[in-house]
Amino acid sequence: MSLTNFPGSANSSPLDPAITKVTIPALAEMKRQGKPISALTAYDYATARLVDEAGIDLVLVGDSLAMVVMGHDNTLAVTVDEMLHHTRAVRRAVRRALVVADMPFGSYHGTVTDGVANAVRFVKEAGAEAVKIEGPRIALVQALTDAEIPVVGHLGLTPQSVHRMGGYRVQAKTLDAVHQIKADARALEEAGAGVVVLEGIPREVAAEITAELTIPTIGIGAGPECDGQILVFHDMVNLSFAPKAKFARRYADAASLFRAAIDHYREDVEHRAFPSDEESYHLPSAVKKEMQAEQSSVQPIKHLRKA
Ligand code: KIV
Repeated sequence: MSLTNFPGSANSSPLDPAITKVTIPALAEMKRQGKPISALTAYDYATARLVDEAGIDLVLVGDSLAMVVMGHDNTLAVTVDEMLHHTRAVRRAVRRALVVADMPFGSYHGTVTDGVANAVRFVKEAGAEAVKIEGPRIALVQALTDAEIPVVGHLGLTPQSVHRMGGYRVQAKTLDAVHQIKADARALEEAGAGVVVLEGIPREVAAEITAELTIPTIGIGAGPECDGQILVFHDMVNLSFAPKAKFARRYADAASLFRAAIDHYREDVEHRAFPSDEESYHLPSAVKKEMQAEQSSVQPIKHLRKA
């Protein structure tokens, strides 16, 4: 590859040279400049396009799709192949935002070698620009960094640890736990992580971690002092069919909007009000005339037979 022909050489999007691509170094620069980072999950082409076109900086293909898209009770069941399928759809939609793929449960909990091999699949087969892994898996973060794969760490309430945590509980509420999460965050940064998601921890703890790290923190249920914020798309638009978490502000009621549209459509079908003539295809007028002529020439024979 010639450097002069490299499409990303001026930080432009490979899919649209007019757009400046968000990268891991660009997110670090936003932190340095005190510019808040916006992040959302997306799992398919349509929502990823909306999210990207709205100027969101980071799109996470979260394993939360196990719950909000696939209807599982928790995130544990989703597989690498399912995550790859959704990451590809999002990748096709996104021009500007950083595309991060969540490594699903089981895909990095064995050997570091297996974890790296699975992460490579997200980059090679789905076009992910970084992978997210839950917990302080320092050796793996180091190995991924050595393998040129940017890492988004995830500390605090890590949903893949639901059984160990005994439910989805706010973490880092004791002094020991505060010291531990701060040490974990520092270790992730030292191992090469480019961003850390902080989920479900007290605001005061997230603020301290954010102040200590040079890499950006992205909060979800971690207060406003984080360098950025992320929400699950379906929570934000009321499509997750789950009780609302304290932090999950609803910006729209897509469930009501969709329900009204679906009801209206069903009624129209039942009353033969859909489709209208304007929504129907028509024969070319010459063919229509030929057809009418054919029908009128056939009718007398029918009458003859009746007589
Ligand atoms: O899977 C997901 O959606 C996440 C976010 C909640 C950070 O990990």
